[in-house]
Amino acid sequence: MVALILAGVAKRFPDGTTAVHTLDLAVDDGELMVLVGPSGCGKSTVLRMVAGLEAPTEGTVTIGGRPANDLSPGDRDVAMVFQDYALYPHMSVHANIAFALKAKGLPRRDIDVRVRQVAGSLGIEHLLGRRPRALSGGERQRVAMGRAIVRRPAAFLMDEPLSNLDAKLRVELRTEIRRLHAELATTFLYVTHDQVEAMTLGDRVAVLRHGRLQQLASPQQLYAAPASVFVAAFMGSPAMNLLRAPLASVGGRVVARAGPWDIPLEPGKAKDHDEVLVGIRPEHLEHFPHPSAGEAGELAQVTAEVVEPLGSVTLVHFHVDAAPVSVLDERPRVDSTPLESGPFSVGAAPAPMVASVDGRTRLSAGATDGRLSLRLDPASVHLFHPVTGLAL
Ligand SMILES: Nc1ncnc2c1ncn2[C@@H]1O[C@H](COP(=O)(O)OP(=O)(O)OP(=O)(O)O)[C@@H](O)[C@H]1O
Ligand SMILES: [Mg+2]
Repeated sequence: MVALILAGVAKRFPDGTTAVHTLDLAVDDGELMVLVGPSGCGKSTVLRMVAGLEAPTEGTVTIGGRPANDLSPGDRDVAMVFQDYALYPHMSVHANIAFALKAKGLPRRDIDVRVRQVAGSLGIEHLLGRRPRALSGGERQRVAMGRAIVRRPAAFLMDEPLSNLDAKLRVELRTEIRRLHAELATTFLYVTHDQVEAMTLGDRVAVLRHGRLQQLASPQQLYAAPASVFVAAFMGSPAMNLLRAPLASVGGRVVARAGPWDIPLEPGKAKDHDEVLVGIRPEHLEHFPHPSAGEAGELAQVTAEVVEPLGSVTLVHFHVDAAPVSVLDERPRVDSTPLESGPFSVGAAPAPMVASVDGRTRLSAGATDGRLSLRLDPASVHLFHPVTGLAL
């Protein structure tokens, strides 16, 4: 068990691509930290620098208190599990798992005991005699994990280990990885582009964009208090609705007009601006069958255009008269400051929105039958700076 510390780590490739900007990240001893972000944001590069497969251009990597920049991958006592498994095709499962122990020169009997023990804990004992090509994707992935576990490394580095699997297996193996982490009580740094995987697996989740750390927090914190419009839009499914909301004065109070909803602002919340960006999670819009009982400003009539019953919840798609905010995934044109949320764009009204309501609600779509009232609790609304996109 060791802590992994990256201090001021940057990576520039010879062609001029900066994959990682000055990154400070500390994975605690025994923690399962997830690195998440869109394709190309630098996740694999970070992991490869910890593994020693890539040298940082700047900064230091420390593994278990030892400076690791000059250590070869084999001397770092970390094991890496890749998306494509990287199994030896001509060897049996047993030989694949045993490989690193053989290389260390352990006695045959000890190797066999350890291979069987690891295979047992992964539920693949019956496959030890097979070649990788005779295995399913999920079984291959278990073998790849077995090969890492058997070495008893001080830390595991996992790069999208589940992304080649179908949805059901992914969920199954996700649970398995959590169980393994608890059982091995070892430090894990786990990379994925899947925000659901990140939220369910991570003790803490580090969100990366364009090679910069956007936020490092527990899944609950990321969800409840996203630091920027980017994190807000990236984490959560269906995604948070983001609208531009001009400020207005209603009955002596300052409100943000988010489409049909008026959101009262605390004094001082939006000093120096005439608008804010408002984020509304789909599940915070509540279907309200008796509109007369609602408070003015919190209730709005909308027209459902598409209704998707998912079982426990029903998704309602509609438009409101507001400018939608979308988080672009282009590289920033200029080098932004580390804390800046990066580019986002404000489109033209109307804005598409999604509400997630109780699955037992009977709803229809269309101009005549699709009218419904949605209540928005102002306390659940997220506010962001109209220029920087950072949380207010
Ligand atoms: N050897 C290289 N030379 C130049 N640029 C590279 C090299 N390796 C990676 N990059 C670039 O660095 C950036 C980060 O790449 P990286 O593989 O770390 O992204 P990632 O977050 O793992 O993406 P994905 O989710 O697609 O795996 C990308 O823009 C990529 O094109
Ligand atoms: Mg990658």
